[in-house]
Amino acid sequence: MSSLDGTVLVTGGAGYIGSHTVRALREAGRDVVVYDSLELGRREAVIDAPLVIGNIADSDLVTATCNEHGVTQLVHFAAYKAVGESMKSPAKYWRNNVAGSVELYEACLAAGVHDVVFSSSCSVNGTPAAVPVSEDAPIHPESVYAESKAMVERILSCYKITHGLNSVSLRYFNAAGASFDGRIGEDWAYSQNLVPLAMKALLLGNPRLTVFGNDYDTPDGTCIRDYIHVDDLADAHVKALAYLGGGGDTTAVNVGTGVGSSVLDVLNATADVAGKPVPYDVAPRRAGDPVSTYSDPTFAQTALGWRAQYGLKEIINSAYTWHRSQMESDARSTPQDRPHPVWPTDAAR
Ligand SMILES: NC(=O)c1ccc[n+]([C@@H]2O[C@H](COP(=O)([O-])OP(=O)(O)OC[C@H]3O[C@@H](n4cnc5c(N)ncnc54)[C@H](O)[C@@H]3O)[C@@H](O)[C@H]2O)c1
Repeated sequence: MSSLDGTVLVTGGAGYIGSHTVRALREAGRDVVVYDSLELGRREAVIDAPLVIGNIADSDLVTATCNEHGVTQLVHFAAYKAVGESMKSPAKYWRNNVAGSVELYEACLAAGVHDVVFSSSCSVNGTPAAVPVSEDAPIHPESVYAESKAMVERILSCYKITHGLNSVSLRYFNAAGASFDGRIGEDWAYSQNLVPLAMKALLLGNPRLTVFGNDYDTPDGTCIRDYIHVDDLADAHVKALAYLGGGGDTTAVNVGTGVGSSVLDVLNATADVAGKPVPYDVAPRRAGDPVSTYSDPTFAQTALGWRAQYGLKEIINSAYTWHRSQMESDARSTPQDRPHPVWPTDAAR
């Protein structure tokens, strides 16, 4: 039996990118079981798949889940992602992102799982020496969070040698946007990323958005990033599992559009869609922010047959639709119906 005939275990499948990927996998005809602590995820974001509530470090529960559901492949999203918090509380990141991943891989191996798609990040390259960034750019993490991702990539390379575990580490650029049917998206209560914060400033007016630095050496003076629609990212996972199921070897793949957009490009696109400007203030540059980073998508196309279908316009349109619908349903619900943010995160990279 090919590993593609079995069930996919999706850790962190109740989170932002995980929940979109679960839907994409189901639409591709895959059986899925979601495994999430719900610490930062939402039960209602899990659509059309069973949910097991647990921690990735609980080896017995992971192995039992794999055995019960006939799991053959793993997609591993579950992690903390707040760069600033990782510098203040590094042990929290080593434990959850690194030690938790090791426990998870051991438990999956015990259940006979040999294919892993891992959520890595373009932040493993730190401030890139050149753009666009290709997979052979130097690994140079500049935060504990980024280091935790680089370490798990290294650990996966070792598991290939020691246990024959095959993996694709997908190095995401900046995930953004929402599902086109408006059902799931990136909750601004849980995120400090640009698009949800711009939507919050636009729709609530308070707080105003802070733009960190407008005196960079870029066409409009603001930082440049590669914003990738979350459904495009989800599709990359479907294709990475197919690559592994077809016997593909362990590798790392950059997942971005190849197009850089400045902070002001994002705010202008938002104003175009909403018909009114995003209120913002300019603050000094933030330490550790690369001036410009965007992906070279060539290898993703060659190795996985994947490339992004959507651009900034679709990202902003879908996010705006989703945030407006959330506000309308919040206005209809009672305060105790509303989900509680656990802690505000900062720039996920
Ligand atoms: N959002 C981005 O732009 C971005 C960029 C690069 C990499 N990533 C990585 O992608 C992954 C998903 O990101 P996201 O934006 O969807 O984050 P998210 O916080 O929305 O989702 C993470 C999910 O993992 C769960 N989780 C965390 N620790 C767990 C544990 N020990 N056991 C079980 N469940 C646990 C949380 O409850 C949450 O549902 C993360 O690994 C993140 O580091 C995200």
